[in-house]
Amino acid sequence: MLRAYPKAKSIKEIRNCFPSLAYTELAYLDNAASTQTVDSSIKAVSDYHYNYRANVHRGDFETSSIASEMYDNARIEIAKLINCEPYEIAFTKGTTHSLNIVTNWLQDDRKVIVTELEHHSLLMPWLKSGKTQNGGDLIVVPGSDYGDVSIEDFTKACRENPGSICAFLTQSNLTGMSLPWEHMVRIAKEYDCEVVIDACQSIGHKPMDVQANNIDWMAFSGHKMYASTGVGVLFHRGGFDDIDDAFDLGGGTAEHVDFDGYHLHSDYRKIEAGTPDIAGVHSIGAAAKWMQEIGYKDIQECEAEFFNMLDDKGLFNIPQLKLIGPITPRSVFSFVTEFNPSDLAGFLSFDKVCVRTGHMCAQPASRRYNEDNTGVFRISTAPYNNEHDCVKLVEGIWKAMEKMGFKNN
Ligand code: ALA
Repeated sequence: MLRAYPKAKSIKEIRNCFPSLAYTELAYLDNAASTQTVDSSIKAVSDYHYNYRANVHRGDFETSSIASEMYDNARIEIAKLINCEPYEIAFTKGTTHSLNIVTNWLQDDRKVIVTELEHHSLLMPWLKSGKTQNGGDLIVVPGSDYGDVSIEDFTKACRENPGSICAFLTQSNLTGMSLPWEHMVRIAKEYDCEVVIDACQSIGHKPMDVQANNIDWMAFSGHKMYASTGVGVLFHRGGFDDIDDAFDLGGGTAEHVDFDGYHLHSDYRKIEAGTPDIAGVHSIGAAAKWMQEIGYKDIQECEAEFFNMLDDKGLFNIPQLKLIGPITPRSVFSFVTEFNPSDLAGFLSFDKVCVRTGHMCAQPASRRYNEDNTGVFRISTAPYNNEHDCVKLVEGIWKAMEKMGFKNN
């Protein structure tokens, strides 16, 4: 028996906002890949399709006006969530799209400082642009044994390469550790660096105040903050007037077009080319509103309580599962296993426990923390994970391991 958990009621209340979890036996523990969708967000999508199905900012009729108003409101909700002005927000297809757009714009002679923990979506666009470690223009701050990066190493990289672009994530999707990103941004600024933040892993769990932290660029996705897939955000401090080209060109991006050229809108419209994912934008706006109502404090407390459940149930004492990083509350826990992690995940899937294994689209980080390069076994949580999920997971792991020949002594 596990002990009584003071935050269990809040977990239940949050869980009640997720229809997909209402009647399922699933223990859904792959939230770092995609969270479940909150009911207000689902409703926003269906409302659009049932009631306001029209294009936005183009139609001269009422349903188009309503759809457009809801689209604009989503921008306002996102701006409130991260503390910026709505004109500093552009809607994209997601973090990957946002980071590709930024990298495409920041093509110049500056060096780029990244960390060893980066997701491929941040790293690969820089590699494509020709910045490499061997070439000397991609500076890689090493991952620490703790699963994050040390401020000393980051400071050294900035001191030796002032005026660079610093592009890094706030929380590793592989180790689960949060980077000291607020401190890193301050240091980057001391050395005149421009900062690009990949916040996709933390946006659903921890507050990101772009103004207080003087962030230049930030990217995140709807599907990791309880909204639809295929929609995301690109924040740019001060808006997009200083960008003189667009990544995608087409409908909605230009003020004037003739057969000799075009003149783009100065604002975020130059980024949102073509008919956008209107339902998706409505959905991310609704999720942002819900998150503000619940509050990050409650989200974090519920996740910390779920960590207590996992700890009490003995997840961190299984000898064949070596946790990467310290045993501390967070939303992602990855383990190096004594066996093929996919075998364990396969057994767990039979028991309706959803986890992820592999390199997590972060191969350099995966190699750093698992020299055998067999990938990791990852559990990722959200504020709706409860005791049922914890028991199913830990008992499921033992059941699977016994099938693989390991005994629970
Ligand atoms: N980046 C996502 C993950 O960590 C898909 O699973």
